[in-house]
Amino acid sequence: MKTRCNIYIIMIVLLLFVPQIISGCTAPASKDLFKKDLYKDEIDLIGQGLFRDKCSLCHELPDIGSYPYTPEQWAGIIDYMHDTNAARKFMTIEEAEKIKVYLKRLSQTD
Ligand code: HEC
Repeated sequence: MKTRCNIYIIMIVLLLFVPQIISGCTAPASKDLFKKDLYKDEIDLIGQGLFRDKCSLCHELPDIGSYPYTPEQWAGIIDYMHDTNAARKFMTIEEAEKIKVYLKRLSQTD
C-alpha cells in the first residue's frame, strides 16, 4: 500500500512539472530575444578574447576607437593581416571570422 502511494505522488509531481518543461522548450518571443542576447554576449566574449590574444602578437593591441575604420574596413584589415602579414600562422580563418564579428560590433556602437 505504501509503495503505491509513493507512485501516485511521483505521478502527481511529474504531471505538475511536465507542462513547465514543455513550455520551457517552446518559449515565448521575449524569452527568445533574451536567449539571443546571451548568445551575442558569448560571441563577443570569445571574439574579445581572440582579439586580445591574436591581434597583439605582432604589434600592440590596436585601439579600435582611435581608428576611423568602418565595420567593413575592419574586416578588410583582418584579411590584410591574415594574407599580407602572415597572421594566418597565428590564427585560423574561423578565429579571424570571430574577431571580425567582434570588431564589427565594436565599431558599430562607436
Ligand atoms: C603576423 C603578425 C600580425 C598579426 C597576428 C596581426 N597584425 Fe596587424 N599589423 C602587422 C604589421 C606588420 C603591421 C604594420 C605594417 C602594415 O600595415 O602592413 C600591422 C598593422 C596593423 C594595423 C594598422 C594598419 C593601418 O592601416 O593603420 C592595424 C589596425 C592592425 N594591424 C590590426 C590588426 C588586427 C585587428 C589583428 C588581429 C586580427 C592583427 N592586426 C594581427 C602584423 C600583424
